[in-house]
Amino acid sequence: MSTGRVTVVDHPLVQHKLTYLRDKNRSTKGFRQILNEIGMLLAYEVTRDLPLEPVTIETPLQPMQGQQIQGKKLVLAPILRAGVGFLDGMLSLVPSARVAHIGLYRDPETLEAVEYYFKAPSDLADRTVLVLDPMLATANSAIAALDRLKARGASDLRFVCLLAAPEGLAKFQAAHPDVPVWTAAIDSHLNDHGYIVPGLGDAGDRMYGTR
Ligand code: URA
Repeated sequence: MSTGRVTVVDHPLVQHKLTYLRDKNRSTKGFRQILNEIGMLLAYEVTRDLPLEPVTIETPLQPMQGQQIQGKKLVLAPILRAGVGFLDGMLSLVPSARVAHIGLYRDPETLEAVEYYFKAPSDLADRTVLVLDPMLATANSAIAALDRLKARGASDLRFVCLLAAPEGLAKFQAAHPDVPVWTAAIDSHLNDHGYIVPGLGDAGDRMYGTR
């Protein structure tokens, strides 16, 4: 389902796996594995409209014109640390993608994003960049990550999350109206601590068992 610049990936496999993740009784191992599986499915959806170009090859029988994805390799840009949860699954579909790491944490008092690490390919201007963070909550981290990537020249950007809060989505779209979003669900609201409700809790803690 696509509304404007937001695509809710309502594929039955994604919805089924998302329900597994939301269950508070899911183990750390199960959470990590399923998040990776959803990452793979979301990668399939978010790359659906990548432009193709013709390429001439030879099958064992004859020459033919096939198609290949145009341009330079994709960049996967997980926001640390929860964004890493999508990475292996996505890389299993696009194994030659480049990876940019963006280290941001949420100040627990102000909920503002604070950057502590940034490393990306130097030619971001020439590549499609998929920014990954499972939870689009206040959107502060997502907005800061996109600000930084744009300052480094990126202009073809897509944001991929698992859950979005309506408040975060609105703020994100106001700050970066040019960046389309893919999510598995839009939840009810944010609570006073900046958690998505009903959500799934702290994605990073659940992935790494740091609760
Ligand atoms: N980050 C999370 O991990 N969970 C939320 O609900 C909000 C932000």
